[in-house]
Amino acid sequence: MSDELNVEFQVPFVHRLRFTKDVFGEDQDVLAGLLTSSDENPARVQFWIDQNVAAGAPQLVERLKRFADSRPQEIQRVGSLQFVPGGEEIKNDVHILERMLKVFNVSNLDRRSYVVAIGGGAVLDAVGFAVAIAHRGLRLLRIPTTTLSQGDSGIGVKNSVNLFTKKNWLGTFAVPWGVINDAEMLTTLSNRDFVSGFSEAVKVSLLKSPDVFEQICRDAVDIRNREMDKALPIIKASAEMHLDHITRGGDPFEMLEARPLDYGHWSAHKMEAMSDFSLRHGEAVAIGVAIDTVYSSLEFGLDSGVAQRVMRCLCDLGFSLSDATLNDVETLFRGLEEFRQHLGGRLTLTMLEGVGKPIDVHSVNRKNMLAAIEQVKAYAESRIHVR
Ligand SMILES: NC(=O)c1ccc[n+]([C@@H]2O[C@H](COP(=O)([O-])OP(=O)(O)OC[C@H]3O[C@@H](n4cnc5c(N)ncnc54)[C@H](O)[C@@H]3O)[C@@H](O)[C@H]2O)c1
Ligand SMILES: [Zn+2]
Repeated sequence: MSDELNVEFQVPFVHRLRFTKDVFGEDQDVLAGLLTSSDENPARVQFWIDQNVAAGAPQLVERLKRFADSRPQEIQRVGSLQFVPGGEEIKNDVHILERMLKVFNVSNLDRRSYVVAIGGGAVLDAVGFAVAIAHRGLRLLRIPTTTLSQGDSGIGVKNSVNLFTKKNWLGTFAVPWGVINDAEMLTTLSNRDFVSGFSEAVKVSLLKSPDVFEQICRDAVDIRNREMDKALPIIKASAEMHLDHITRGGDPFEMLEARPLDYGHWSAHKMEAMSDFSLRHGEAVAIGVAIDTVYSSLEFGLDSGVAQRVMRCLCDLGFSLSDATLNDVETLFRGLEEFRQHLGGRLTLTMLEGVGKPIDVHSVNRKNMLAAIEQVKAYAESRIHVR
């Protein structure tokens, strides 16, 4: 005879998301308000910055230091500012992870210390992973600096680095202490990276909001031209939909089969790796979303007009929907198995029956998937000729 105890339990989490115009200027109280101390001593805070963000905005470092050092009662800056390589480079080099952990150790950071990570999604993922495993978790405050990380990854509860040339192979789930989406941070972003984030906004709107999808389609050209009165509301809507999914969707740590937020991602992740990460995540997601949307029209009755609109919207935003990786479909299809493995269990993909009507499917009709890829390539070709 054996004893068995199965006890269900819940843990309350708080997700703190703030929107600011200038976090080291007029809105600095927002940041200070999140860096609370648990005793009468000032909060111990260490800042980690994406090198490319610092290079693009030389005054940022001075402003940051001025902010942190002007509040000795509230904030104690620990160690010097730490600079890390931006982009996928930081996620691909496991030695950088080791260096981060060493710095936390010599700085004597503890579970009540804060690490403020300022950077694109890659830096937030990698610093966030180091933060999550040091002492089983320090407090992470993210200041995302790309449209993608402000609208999507910065809000998430995942962090990771790449290993074995596989995306996000090593990582954890961890709820950040707080996230500040600051408009000023986006001003130094290249046009390429500015556009890149909006594929995730298209993705989440297709899953959850026909209205937001319409708004993106309508404003796509203005967004691409960086008209911020059009771009910021979409980033905010995207962030809020992601936040809502995580906090109210019932599966923040992806225990269930379905991962709707990974719509279009089975191919995107593979394309990124196949391109040796020369394709940005957002660029690969644009192609992946286009493919799965056309596939949904061929296989699941999604209106083919919607599929055309999605492709047009993505191209109006400035994405190219063609890439050399699409010519090697055998390798691309291996992405399906890698996607399945990442979650375990049977393959589960999200597809669309309509805008705002996602469905879960467990197999892929290769003939139609190939046809979808061909349609996306042909559309991309036709857009090149139009230009
Ligand atoms: N954790 C998640 O839930 C999740 C979700 C989606 C994507 N991601 C990950 O996010 C990463 C992509 O993030 P991304 O699209 O933000 O790109 P990125 O972090 O790769 O940044 C792109 C480039 O822009 C630079 N940069 C960033 N902000 C800048 C600024 N304000 N000014 C000038 N240069 C700047 C970076 O240094 C980099 O060179 C991928 O690794 C992807 O896997 C994670
Ligand atoms: Zn993504």
